[in-house]
Amino acid sequence: MAVFTEDLLKEAESIIAQYPHRKAAIMPLLWLVQEKFGYIPNEAVLEVAELTGTTLVHIEAIIKFYEMFHDHPVGKCQLMLCTNVSCLLQGADKTLQKLKEVLGINVGETTSDGMFTLEEVECLAACDKAPVLLVNAMDLYEKVKPDKVEQIIADLIERYGKSDGTGK
Ligand code: FES
Repeated sequence: MAVFTEDLLKEAESIIAQYPHRKAAIMPLLWLVQEKFGYIPNEAVLEVAELTGTTLVHIEAIIKFYEMFHDHPVGKCQLMLCTNVSCLLQGADKTLQKLKEVLGINVGETTSDGMFTLEEVECLAACDKAPVLLVNAMDLYEKVKPDKVEQIIADLIERYGKSDGTGK
């Protein structure tokens, strides 16, 4: 089944028209798909390749390279905790442990209600605020010590609302 329905295709073509080369629209098109589905389904990879005149392998490499793209369903809130050196020195390992306890999941897993996905990531370029937690590739929580975790989770539930189980 085509991911790019007639409406989505129109949107895609208007995005492509903003760039001098079709290939330059790859990232915005991947965002478009992810916004709609919560992740990038396999079928969309081939369609984006065709739309931008590139190869399947090229699109797959982009999705794999950028942590913000997902090739599988993720929770409504994607929690990316940096566990690189500066954050680790400031106790990111303890923060990670607390996140696992509060959410009841391990790294790479999603809560059964589809609300949270927990991931470990490399440096987020905010080492002076370590340990840091990035939510949905947009909101950066700073100096996230274990005692802040429960409040952050409660705030996120309040802000994003309970999940309907689909991760969207
Ligand atoms: S090491 Fe965590 S933000 Fe740089």
